[in-house]
Amino acid sequence: MIRVGVFGASGYAGFETVQLLKNHPAAELVFATSESSAGQSLSDIYPVPWNIPLAPVAEATLEQVEAVFCCLPHGASMPTVISARKAGVRVIDLSADFRLADAELYRHWYQVPHESPALLNEAVYGLTEVNRDQVRAATLLANPGCYPTSVLLALYPLLKAGLLDPAAPIIADSKSGVSGAGRKPALKTHFVEINENLAPYNIGRSHRHVPEMVQTIDRLGGSGERLIFSPHLAPVSRGMLSTVYVSLVQDVTPEAAHRLFTGTYAREPLVWVLPSDHLATIGHTRRTNRCAISITPVNPRQLILVSSIDNLGKGAAGQAVQNFNVMFGLEESAGLV
Ligand SMILES: NC(=O)c1ccc[n+]([C@@H]2O[C@H](COP(=O)([O-])OP(=O)(O)OC[C@H]3O[C@@H](n4cnc5c(N)ncnc54)[C@H](OP(=O)(O)O)[C@@H]3O)[C@@H](O)[C@H]2O)c1
Repeated sequence: MIRVGVFGASGYAGFETVQLLKNHPAAELVFATSESSAGQSLSDIYPVPWNIPLAPVAEATLEQVEAVFCCLPHGASMPTVISARKAGVRVIDLSADFRLADAELYRHWYQVPHESPALLNEAVYGLTEVNRDQVRAATLLANPGCYPTSVLLALYPLLKAGLLDPAAPIIADSKSGVSGAGRKPALKTHFVEINENLAPYNIGRSHRHVPEMVQTIDRLGGSGERLIFSPHLAPVSRGMLSTVYVSLVQDVTPEAAHRLFTGTYAREPLVWVLPSDHLATIGHTRRTNRCAISITPVNPRQLILVSSIDNLGKGAAGQAVQNFNVMFGLEESAGLV
């Protein structure tokens, strides 16, 4: 068994990670942290029958584990990741702290200086289907954000084939379940504000996930500067749907477009390309660890892609465990299907 710890187990992403690890055939949970509920058990704060003690970060027994899942907010994650790496522990970080390769870009978007630019060189961006070879050897894995996971998996087959028109906009219109905002209460996620509502926020190029998507689109040979991103909060607890409008450099038949996606993802256990007459919905992936994608041609040069993930599954804990599996040479979908 591989001994692991979870930082931030009391939060939504951390609790989801603990649930997956509880059912994992090769992982043993050694510690779980919370600051505000330290001294209590997980069963005191969630309706589960697991007497898993919660300890503060300062009491985490790093010397007893081989890997940690860091499910803390950005900024709080950095010092924890640095300590874990100093202790020689492999890290899967679910925060944004190690996703951007450029420390100055991080400072610009997150309004704090990066505490360890050197570790940014070590970090591997863990979009598993795209970076699997680097993930295998990763000692510090930056797990992608939920919006980037849904948008980038939709774009990847077209980027890989060099089919996206670099002069045309890539328009991603995304809806997220409210758990995407974390467990801490806030006015904008209050039931009365959210229920029977649909609220756009940070639209255009102002959401913090934009630079992460731009970085990956550019690395894959596309034109990230063409991305326009409109996130929304939807009145569901969990789930994420991204509708992505793209233009192509050449005419592509509906059959060839669909074949490109099924071919790219043919061996992927956690990506589900829907039949050509289906449309992906939040229901296709709710409480799962997979991504479902549908492809709808508008004309020979334009497609509408719909990509569905569970923000806490493939968008967070599911992809984190998928990366853990790859890093430790396990079956990639172990504990996930
Ligand atoms: N929610 C999602 O759908 C999602 C998707 C992808 C990535 N993520 C990322 O995953 C991370 C966790 O998100 P979340 O939604 O689970 O947030 P959350 O529900 O607010 O949970 C945050 C966790 O971090 C702990 N924490 C907060 N501040 C801390 C500090 N200064 N020092 C130590 N521990 C601290 C909290 O512990 P206590 O409050 O118990 O003290 C809690 O366990 C974030 O970086 C987020 O961006 C989340």
